Amino acid sequence: MLNRFSRREFAKLFGSAAIVPSALPALASVAPATHHTAAPAPQRFPQGFLWGSATASYQVEGAVKEDGRGPSIWDTFSHTPGKTNNGDTGDVADDHYHRYKEDVQLMKALGLKTYRFSVAWPRIFPQGKGTPNSKGLDFYSRLVDELLANNIQPYCTLFHWDLPQALEDKGGWQSRDTSEAFANYAGYVAQHLSDRVKHFMTLNEMRSFVDIGYRDGRHAPGLKLSAGKVNQVRHHAVLAHGLGVQAIRAHARPGTRVGIAENANSCVPVIETPEHIVAAAKAYRETNAGYLTVIMEGRYTDAYLAHAGADAPKFTPEDLKAIGSPLDFVGINIYTPQYVRADDSPAGYALVPMPASFPHMMSSWLHTGPEALYWSPKLASELWGIREIYITENGASSSDVLAPDGHVYDTDRVMYLRSYLTQLHRAVREGVPVKGYFCWSLMDNYEWADGYAYRFGIHYVDFKTQKRTPKLSAHFYREVIARNGLA
Ligand code: NOJ
Repeated sequence: MLNRFSRREFAKLFGSAAIVPSALPALASVAPATHHTAAPAPQRFPQGFLWGSATASYQVEGAVKEDGRGPSIWDTFSHTPGKTNNGDTGDVADDHYHRYKEDVQLMKALGLKTYRFSVAWPRIFPQGKGTPNSKGLDFYSRLVDELLANNIQPYCTLFHWDLPQALEDKGGWQSRDTSEAFANYAGYVAQHLSDRVKHFMTLNEMRSFVDIGYRDGRHAPGLKLSAGKVNQVRHHAVLAHGLGVQAIRAHARPGTRVGIAENANSCVPVIETPEHIVAAAKAYRETNAGYLTVIMEGRYTDAYLAHAGADAPKFTPEDLKAIGSPLDFVGINIYTPQYVRADDSPAGYALVPMPASFPHMMSSWLHTGPEALYWSPKLASELWGIREIYITENGASSSDVLAPDGHVYDTDRVMYLRSYLTQLHRAVREGVPVKGYFCWSLMDNYEWADGYAYRFGIHYVDFKTQKRTPKLSAHFYREVIARNGLA
């Protein structure tokens, strides 16, 4: 049973009947404010704006040994003592593999238009390549059918960090073979799901899995490689993306749209004056040079290569051509801002350090800087002429507790979402081509090395019973979706 606020209870607790869904038809027909009306103009999004939510396979599915799934690097890493908070693993997670129908009903109750999920590579190719496992594909096929039957568009990510362990044993992302194996896997999934899935994203957050997993050692596979080796891993990641795009185009049905979901460094001018804005644009291009920039431009910037020096990655002109393959859309995950100021240095910008007192959410890295949701898509679209952008993730960790009345009052997450969405609205109003927004996450889940203590969901999950409870933020988000706006 889902624990929901009744409309009456919601209105009693949180305000007038005007904000309960039953009052919406009247509100929706209100004409935009003119100088004759005292009310502020409603912050509505363009018609058809895609409101969504996102999860990822290893973080929600569980069932790690079922239906022929092979082990991934996250199974190995999370089962290695001392690697994750409390020794938490994704063995069960949200048990979404068995409860996906219930979870689709959560989405439906929110009014979601779209849902972003990821396919676990080791379910499809338990050894990373070779013979595909049809039972693995069946799960995603059932999930897609369930989404479509409930009028929710599937957006499918092909790699959200659960690399087959068998590939890691042969060098993982240090080996160019992994990029080729990814393309083979991506083409296979696209071939079989593109009759119903129209949007595919190749890799999720290259910056995170490369830098945290292969440089800092805090994520799977837990390596601390030298700078040169990390640059090569990074190159293999963007190459996998490029080869993946080509393979999807070769095997998917015509009309299939291909993109990526990258956590570009969200540069924000520390003061919104022309010189700092110019500096932020320069910083956006250079601090993303090894990831989004090379994908958008098909070349590494001179500054990137000069800075890497002898540690620069080895690559061919064909690699760059593949990496720069044209995309149908760009997905950007946006959480924490990187403030930038103008500077006299040759680079023309400097990164502004965060003072210790800067507000952050439960995850100490997640500074609350809503302007990131304005500047990141704006700078990306202006730098590279992108015409279709999705915010493929945005959300917040909070120390959620079930109150004695059974509700979860995550007011900090509500305020976070409201302030970020206000900035997104500012971008969209100015014509930045953001077509949709995916809230991270639909429900609390396995937050990688931070385990289950760090909750990002708008539904609370009791991991002992698997009961899902909509938090206050779920009610907030449902209202945003119903109004297609903030007010
Ligand atoms: C980005 C990652 O894609 C996702 O897996 C993670 O849970 C969220 N950020 C929050 O850290």
